[in-house]
Amino acid sequence: MAEVSEKQTAIIGAGVMGEALLSGLVRAGRRVDRLLVGEKRAERARELEDRYGVAVVGNAEAAAKADTLALVVKPQDMGDLLDEVAPRLRAGQLVVSLAAGITTGFIESRVPEGVAVVRVMPNTPALVDQGMSTISPGSHCTDADLAEAESLLASVGKVMRIPERQQDAVTSISGSGPAYIFFVVESMIEAGVHLGLPRATASELVIQTLTGSAAMLRETGTHPTVLREQVTSPGGTTASALRELEIHKVRAAFLAAMEAARDRSRQLAEGS
Ligand SMILES: NC(=O)c1ccc[n+]([C@@H]2O[C@H](COP(=O)([O-])OP(=O)(O)OC[C@H]3O[C@@H](n4cnc5c(N)ncnc54)[C@H](OP(=O)(O)O)[C@@H]3O)[C@@H](O)[C@H]2O)c1
Repeated sequence: MAEVSEKQTAIIGAGVMGEALLSGLVRAGRRVDRLLVGEKRAERARELEDRYGVAVVGNAEAAAKADTLALVVKPQDMGDLLDEVAPRLRAGQLVVSLAAGITTGFIESRVPEGVAVVRVMPNTPALVDQGMSTISPGSHCTDADLAEAESLLASVGKVMRIPERQQDAVTSISGSGPAYIFFVVESMIEAGVHLGLPRATASELVIQTLTGSAAMLRETGTHPTVLREQVTSPGGTTASALRELEIHKVRAAFLAAMEAARDRSRQLAEGS
């Protein structure tokens, strides 16, 4: 098992993704006294203190005390947050941003010289330690900084290093991807109900089919086209279904949807 980092780490913004990261770090064996959380709402702060035994402090205090700061606020809140914490930051600290579309350049222009920046695109399966995170270094980031960011995200799933120019495309696959999969699951359950199955039966069938298919992809390493062909007998039931998906241009819809997500990520970057 990888050595657990002893660096003081602060998570600022403990919403869905921030809490996923916090809980993953605790499960991965990070000492709670080496973790800090920056959270504005008193009620939410108490909830996190009770649930994880972690200290919740003001953002400025978190910025001053931490070696590594994970910023997990919405992209549109990032400018205000950086204005708030920048005066407390110093060279040698590491800022890891999990916000969609926020570039390392944007962050570097707002923090003191010598603060290392890493950009991450995580996804929500991090909640169950099955996340997929991509990380990209900023302009003055050492290998040790990148390794520290990697170990942070490795507590909630897989991590891949990619060039920052690929982050917008990645956002449209793994960042937003869980929503597409849930959309497909919802659609199949609804269809099952239309075909007369009880909702609970349809749900169980769809969820197990999804997890079984994912396990096949992962464990066999076989190309998805080959796996699909194995289920598609000539003139059979699956072939009839797939024909309808082609007629309804589902493949083209995925391309258009993912282009839209990529473009929105770029827009967020331009707006920031
Ligand atoms: N959810 C996803 O699937 C996903 C996937 C990939 C990347 N991300 C990225 O992760 C980031 C967070 O997303 P999320 O879904 O976790 O959003 P979220 O649930 O809304 O969490 C954001 C949290 O940040 C807090 N916050 C805002 N400004 C703050 C400040 N100045 N100081 C301290 N806390 C502050 C918010 O508190 P209040 O509620 O009190 O304002 C909220 O608890 C986003 O940038 C997003 O692009 C999310």
